[in-house]
Amino acid sequence: MPLLKWNKELSVEINSIDEQHKKLIQMLNNLFTALKNDEEANYLRQMLKGLAEYTVEHFQYEEDLMQEHGYDGYAEHKAEHDRFVSKVSEFRKKFDSDDEDLAIEMLDFISDWIQGHIMGTDKKYSPFLLGKGVG
Ligand code: FEO
Repeated sequence: MPLLKWNKELSVEINSIDEQHKKLIQMLNNLFTALKNDEEANYLRQMLKGLAEYTVEHFQYEEDLMQEHGYDGYAEHKAEHDRFVSKVSEFRKKFDSDDEDLAIEMLDFISDWIQGHIMGTDKKYSPFLLGKGVG
């Protein structure tokens, strides 16, 4: 059973963005399953790669939309994205030094991110972008 199932509470009502967010949720669920099966060591490298891709593709996608339409919460939003990027870089260093707590730390961080950023900060742009015809 996955840790987190997609549901409408997670939706920002913009399909292209929801699809990108689903990839992060899938990574979280994969990590959870790997931890349960004591196989996290095998999944961490793949997840770090996935997270790096997510930061480039997804964050850029949102940032471009916000800038293109003049969203005034842009700077604050981008600062949160930058914090995530720094965290992934920290995770990479911990992976390279075989930190035993890394998998749990990543699980906690991504869970908190989904709740705080996707369900909080991301949802704030929905009415604005929908009003601009995005979606
Ligand atoms: Fe969907 Fe702002 O990350």
